Amino acid sequence: MRSLVTGSAGFIGSHLVERLLEAGDEVVGIDGLVENYDLALKRARVDRQRQEARFEYVGDMLETLDLDELLEGVDRVFHLAALPGVRSSWGASFQDYASHNIYASQRLFEASLQQGVGRVVYASSSSVYGDAAQLPMRESAREKPFSPYGVTKLAAEHLARLYHRNYGLATVSMRFFTVYGPRQRPDMAIQRFLTAARDGTSIRLFGDGEQTRDFTYVADTVTALLRAAERGQEGAVYNVGGGSTVTVNQLIEAIEEVSGNRLQVEREGVQRGDVRDTCADTSLAETELGFVPETSLREGLAKHWQAVAHESTEALTSP
Ligand code: NAD
Ligand code: UGA
Repeated sequence: MRSLVTGSAGFIGSHLVERLLEAGDEVVGIDGLVENYDLALKRARVDRQRQEARFEYVGDMLETLDLDELLEGVDRVFHLAALPGVRSSWGASFQDYASHNIYASQRLFEASLQQGVGRVVYASSSSVYGDAAQLPMRESAREKPFSPYGVTKLAAEHLARLYHRNYGLATVSMRFFTVYGPRQRPDMAIQRFLTAARDGTSIRLFGDGEQTRDFTYVADTVTALLRAAERGQEGAVYNVGGGSTVTVNQLIEAIEEVSGNRLQVEREGVQRGDVRDTCADTSLAETELGFVPETSLREGLAKHWQAVAHESTEALTSP
């Protein structure tokens, strides 16, 4: 198999690249190294990936690349490149969100069609639901995004569906619910809280902490992506949740337990664009993909904590 991964230097993309290489695929990774966080983290991942002969790196933006050439001979595309932050999608930054999340996706779908790519799996988001009228969230519910980011993720999901309905491009959209694990983006709650537990710094808690999230361990997310490529229904949308819905206050307690350190909490107001609750109904993914999340929150947090604790040891011992 020849697989192409967009966003290959990112958090989830880098885990997916590893799994594809382990499975014996040839992998083309596209990542324009957007500065949504420290580029040193992304560059280190690219350096590691390039040590594998079956990996080819393309360090450019989807908006400008000659995609036809890159997609020649590609069996399947995993489209993860996007600006991913919910709370930072307001104001002037929306132009970049629209370009990276919508326009770049349309170019990729169009080129995949022209080149006869067999399957395109798109990384969508629970943010397309907004503040859902009913929990758990089901794929059949009406989408009402609550952030500009959610609007862009839904727009690209619609594009994926349109390319399927009009031209028969085999697209599948996967709605991820708050993904965590080693290499999580530095702007996300668990990475911030574990780092603060390690360093003895304080965390910022947005709102009363009673909001809930269906946290999903990254290895489970990657498994769902692979299943979608193998057996997802063309044109379909699937929830990918972790089965570990907890309040942020409960998350803080779990992090204190796993790290053995107490967190110092500074309270801030509810952030614009944040939904109150997320909780995935994953029965469709279970029935059609055979996907069931396997990693409990405790188990996932323990692995994530090991990675964060190890980073500090590396920093202390390197010259
Ligand atoms: P990330 O920022 O770590 O990875 C995204 C990568 O895409 C980055 O390395 C960036 O440089 C690259 N990129 C962005 N726009 C690009 C473009 N136009 N051309 C080329 N490269 C580009 O983010 P992540 O957390 O790994 O998220 C991956 C995907 O999953 C995103 O599409 C995001 O919307 C989606 N998602 C993530 C979560 C989560 O909890 N992390 C949840 C739901 C959905
Ligand atoms: C995450 C990802 O960042 C998005 O890319 C993704 O699209 C979305 O999940 C999704 O499920 O679709 P979010 O749920 O906001 O978004 O993830 P976190 O940043 O981990 O935040 C979780 C909760 O912790 C939120 O309620 C947030 O307000 C809170 N939080 C976050 C804090 O209280 N303090 C922080 O410093 C960060």
